Parts: sequence; structure tokens; C-alpha cells
Amino acid sequence: MNSSPFDQPLDRQHTGSIKWEKYADKDVIPMWVADMEFATAPEIIAALKDRLNHPILGYTCGTDSLARTVTEYLQQTHHWQIDPDWLVWLPGVVPGLSALTWMLEPDDQIMVFTPVYHPLLLIPEKFNQSRVDVPLVYTNNRWGIDFDVFEKSINKNCKMLFLCSPHNPMGTLFSADELQRVVEICSAYNIVVISDEIHCDLVLHNTLTHTTTGTVAGDNQSNVVTLMSPSKTFNLAGANCSFAVIPDAAYRKAYTEKCMYTLPVVPTLAYTAAEAAYQFGWHWHAELIEYLRGNLQTLRTEIDRLPGLSMDNPDATYLAWINTSELPVANAYEFFVHAGVGLSPGAQFGNADYQRLNFACSRVQLEEGIGRMRKAIEAL
Ligand SMILES: Cc1ncc(COP(=O)(O)O)c(C=O)c1O
Repeated sequence: MNSSPFDQPLDRQHTGSIKWEKYADKDVIPMWVADMEFATAPEIIAALKDRLNHPILGYTCGTDSLARTVTEYLQQTHHWQIDPDWLVWLPGVVPGLSALTWMLEPDDQIMVFTPVYHPLLLIPEKFNQSRVDVPLVYTNNRWGIDFDVFEKSINKNCKMLFLCSPHNPMGTLFSADELQRVVEICSAYNIVVISDEIHCDLVLHNTLTHTTTGTVAGDNQSNVVTLMSPSKTFNLAGANCSFAVIPDAAYRKAYTEKCMYTLPVVPTLAYTAAEAAYQFGWHWHAELIEYLRGNLQTLRTEIDRLPGLSMDNPDATYLAWINTSELPVANAYEFFVHAGVGLSPGAQFGNADYQRLNFACSRVQLEEGIGRMRKAIEAL
């Protein structure tokens, strides 16, 4: 049998991994937070070691070379032509989203398509802005936007939309048409679209591609702020180098000023990792996508066999959205933890009928996790 570098389980205990520390003293396989159980690309590790040959890790800025690298990546991979001046370097997408709320007035409201990655639900509340939820709807085997509901939800205080594209946790890739409509509607009502595209390089189907919101915005491009990062693509969540693409010069200046002295600067080694990733990580990434496809197939086959569970087919991400509402248990999340599998409770994202499973791990670990779930269900 051909083995893949991704088959090799790695022991992450005692590395301070948030994912593993949660269950440090328990026999629970952590399949929750969105980082992967895979060694990042060797080229990235080599670049980091090389950088450490210089013994000063002082305050660092995003270099012209990094801006060129990211601009080329957006052009080549996502067919999006940007001006390098539009880039704002950030120490993470979530801090970048939080800082965007500082662009609002106290009465302004933030719209969000739900269920969704929980910080998009929590940030408005933490920063004292009210939130307007627009539920996504399940039609034609996918979760999508009901544009009537969306438009009817808008009120005069709505000034920002948090869009998660591709969508976490449901894995939807929004089509160019859908994204164009979102931007047109928002522009008509003066709502800035904040497009969190951190999962954009994790498309799992050969026939599908990710559309960056910026490419379909046309004349409304200045109404869109895009947030991206190499962290999901290359498994660099602890090396926080993210970026915002902000075409509107005045908005970019105001945002940059708000971030200064409030957000930390991007760590030196994070810049190094990001540049190496976008320059040299694509061979590793191609193998990763193949492996994730195999894992998704394994997971789908097994989940389809388990009574009480059903699973949507994610277009993108390594996150499965599993409907557990038919399981005869009071709390499916607790039930699976007790069985030795730590999932993310769907309630966290806004739908308690579901649990989210991170399948970016070795096939052996995935099978062990599914086996534990099966055993627990069979014992009911
Ligand atoms: C949609 C989305 N945005 C942002 C993040 C986190 O970004 P960062 O670690 O750069 O703050 C995640 C992590 O799971 C995510 O799924």
C-alpha cells in the first residue's frame, strides 16, 4: 500500500497544543479546533531554521518581497489582481475582525449568516455592537443564502456584514453569482462586506473552485474588505501572519491607524513562515488536498453506516458538519466525549442539532475516532 507523509501520526502532547491540552489527562481524541495533525511543509521549516541563523528577532514589517509573493499568489491561485498597497498585515484573522468593529459607530449593527464560526457571533457582542442573524438555508443538498430573507433582515443600522467564505462549519463554497448578489445588496444599503476567506485554499472537489469576493465586486470593490491567511492552508495557526485586502485608501488608512498600538505586530517568524509557504508550499498542499479527499470519503462512508447520524458534503474545509439530532441521547457532544472523541458542539456555532468534526488527521486516527463513535452508538 502506498503510504503518504500525512499517514504518520505525530505526538503533540507537551507542545502546548490547545487542541490536545483540552483532553491532556483523558483518553479522548481531539477532533475539534481547526488545526491539522500534519507536519507543515518541510520548505517552511527550512525557511524558519534559516531565519534563525540571524540572531535578532526584532520588530519586523511585511517586506516588499512578501507583498509581491502574496500579490502573485492571489493572481495565480485566485485570479484576483490586487495592488500590493491594499495589503494590511495582521497578527491573525480574528484580531483583524475584532479591529474592524472599531470602524463602526455605537448604534451600528453587524449582519452574519448563521450558523457560523463562533468568533463571528461573539465579536459583535464583545465590542458592544448588536448583531443581525440571517440563517442559511438547506436546499438542493447545500447550505446557501436565502436572498429574500437576507434583504428583509436589513435595517438602517446595518453597516457591516461578516461573511465566512468558504463557510465554516458547513463547508459551503458560495458561487460567483451568490457573492456578486451579496456585494450588490450590501453596496445598495451601504453595508461593508467583510469577507473572511481563511479556508479559501481548502477546496475538496475537483470540479469546484473558490471565488474571492473581491473578484466579483466590480465597481463595488471599495465596499469589500477581505481577510486571508496561510494558517489553514499550510497548518500555521500558531504562526500568526494574516492579512486584510482593503482597496479603499481612506478606509485602509483609518483601519491601520486603529490597529496601531492596539493589535500586536506580526511576529518575525510568522512573516518568514508565510512567505515560504506561499512561495514553496504548493507541492505539499497538493498532497494535502488529495489526503483530505480520501479522509472525507472514509468519513462519509462510515457516517452513512451509523444509525442516527447524517452528514452534509462539505465543498471545502476539513470540517464535517454532522447531524446528530436523531441520536437518542440528551447531549450528543457529551456523549461522544464520553466515548473518547472530542468534537466541537454545534451549539457553539448556532445549531445544537449538529456536531463539527475535524478530519485533518492521519487515516489511522480518523478510523480510531469513528470506531469509538460507532462502538458508543451500538451500545445505546
Ligand atoms: C472562518 C475562520 N476565521 C478565522 C479563523 C481563525 O483565524 P486566526 O487564527 O488567524 O485568528 C478560523 C479558525 O478556525 C476560521 O475558521
